[in-house]
Amino acid sequence: MNQKKFYVTTPIYYANSNPHIGSAYTTIVADIIARYKRFCGYEVYFLTGTDEHGQKIMETAKSLGKTPIELCDELAWNFESLWKDLEITNDDFIRTTQKRHEEVVQKFVAKMIENGDIYKGMYEGWYCVPDEAFYLEEDIEMIDGKKCCPSCKRELRWVAEENYFFKLSAYQDKLLELYKKLPDFVEPEFRKNEMLRIIEGGLKDLSISRTTFNWGVPLPGDEKHVIYVWVDALINYISALGYSTSDESLFNEFWPADLHLMAKEINRFHSIIWPAMLMSVGLPLPKKVFAHGWLTFNGEKISKSTGNAIDPRVLMNAYGKDAVKYYLLRDINFGKDGDFSEDGLIGRINADLANDLGNLIHRTSAMINQNFNGIIPIPQQDESESDMALRKLLEETFKEYNIRMEKYQFTQALDAVWKLIGFNNKYIDLNEPWKLARDASQKERLATVLYNLADSLKNIALFLRPIMTDTSKELFLRLGYDFESWNSGNIDDIKWRTVKSGNVVKSDDPLFPRIDMKNFEKVVKMEEKRDNSVAEGMKEIQPEHKEPLKIEGVELIGFEEFGKVQLRVALIVEAEKVVKSKKLVKLQLDIGENENRQIVAGISQFYEPEQLIGKKIIIVANLKPAKLMGIESNGMLLAAKDGESLRLLTVDGEIKPGAKIS
Ligand code: ME8
Ligand code: MG
Repeated sequence: MNQKKFYVTTPIYYANSNPHIGSAYTTIVADIIARYKRFCGYEVYFLTGTDEHGQKIMETAKSLGKTPIELCDELAWNFESLWKDLEITNDDFIRTTQKRHEEVVQKFVAKMIENGDIYKGMYEGWYCVPDEAFYLEEDIEMIDGKKCCPSCKRELRWVAEENYFFKLSAYQDKLLELYKKLPDFVEPEFRKNEMLRIIEGGLKDLSISRTTFNWGVPLPGDEKHVIYVWVDALINYISALGYSTSDESLFNEFWPADLHLMAKEINRFHSIIWPAMLMSVGLPLPKKVFAHGWLTFNGEKISKSTGNAIDPRVLMNAYGKDAVKYYLLRDINFGKDGDFSEDGLIGRINADLANDLGNLIHRTSAMINQNFNGIIPIPQQDESESDMALRKLLEETFKEYNIRMEKYQFTQALDAVWKLIGFNNKYIDLNEPWKLARDASQKERLATVLYNLADSLKNIALFLRPIMTDTSKELFLRLGYDFESWNSGNIDDIKWRTVKSGNVVKSDDPLFPRIDMKNFEKVVKMEEKRDNSVAEGMKEIQPEHKEPLKIEGVELIGFEEFGKVQLRVALIVEAEKVVKSKKLVKLQLDIGENENRQIVAGISQFYEPEQLIGKKIIIVANLKPAKLMGIESNGMLLAAKDGESLRLLTVDGEIKPGAKIS
């Protein structure tokens, strides 16, 4: 059978410094795309590797007292082993110092020479060693009176030597034609427009060899020269496939690439120089170049040289792979720059993973355990209104998710999945299974509700599969499936009412324990600077009456007095009856800023614990701690009481836990 193919690449990272969360970002995204495509039935080839030649690596090695290859061996291993630890599913890891690569580079450049695209000339100009890039006089940035790189801001060096040149200028019109014919060749669109402006502004021929050092691939025909590191590096995308070797089967199968991924600073190499090189030797062009934004920290690009390189391993060890991946994809709009924030990551873990997803898993499995001995029951055929709404939302989510994943809009794909998770939590509140459980005549309806919830969990596990692999697998196992049924899964398994009745659910520890900032030390040891200028409305209002007034026996209080009471929105995360008490319920609350609170309240006759989870209530946050039946209570919830009935005060619409009430 002729399977659909997909070839995705990351940049090959310079082997002169250790990977950080910025370099890991591109690889993580590429991995998620590869996993998604495989999930959709594609045969995928996923390539990454290291860029090991050039002046920068040579100089770094020298400064460390190492030979270049010693440095490269060490760093290539650091990258490769990080990808193993992150369970990145790359099919190959190419190093540009490998013979298989160097030979192809020479053949490729020989072809360019044969086709008359290379000539000898004199190069005089400015060069950025850290970026391995030439800059024109007009592009240079002056910083402290020094000529600096417009991209990385470091000082440029003057280079004057005999070089070979590639006739890049001859490809100007062909490139414009390409951009016209394939409007999505470069994405996002604003990056394409940048490239168009460069091309339209006129392309200069490119120096493609150097003579002042020898750490590179010798130029065929004139071995005093080494090939410019970027020309060398770009060829990795086809040398890894065996182009021009005795075995071209991978090349025939997977070239042209479906997607080259990288960040914006090296877009022009991929969107202008690489296509022109391919045109020169007459090879098909990649289908898409996607230049995403930068991960920043306090607004500055994360990089080794800025000194803000966050180690992905430290994050993974503290929070787990899935949580970090979820955060990066959900919070950073792919394509744009995004500021990394550990607080933001913790916030996502608590709100989306521990609360939204965690509660749904916990409530569903607990109720199946209580009511059906842990066996997923058989549903009725009939669908109630809420069942139909759930089904409709599942179908919409399936469409939306796939559209967004195809467009690499991960934030939006995850938004859609979380909307589905949210609606499932609501479905529980609408159907009140705890009430159904008390009425024997409702046993079948209870079975249907719990079946539908288990079915949703199975579908959610599948949606999360390319992104949060461990979570997806674990959810499947908890729903009574084995590894093989998870592993052989396919995107089309996401279907209404397909979870297996009769499977035995396993409920274990929470998948994502909440992080309580009071007892938690953050792992990124750099301060996050945030804008904390949230207006504190109370203080700005001048009290009009200093003396308490009395109206018909009601004592009026001033703003000052009222202002002392701190009211806040709290999300109920856990609820359980206090043993031996008829009235008391112990609540764990999320009150924002990643703080947890325990409150004991006398509402047991009015609410079942399952009914309370997920509600956003109002609490007095600054009440002195008290003990009720020996259990500490830190605050008080607000409720309205009318004779025999009691209802909790909640908020009207979406608002974050911790929001102040004024
Ligand atoms: O440029 N945010 O290698 P490089 C997002 N060897 N992505 C980031 C990032 C950040 N803060 N920092 C790094 C090179 N990256 C060449 C590539 S390809 C033929 C040769 C990622 O080690 C991003 O993908 O400087 C960026 O383009 C790449 O690392 C640069 O890696
Ligand atoms: Mg770089």
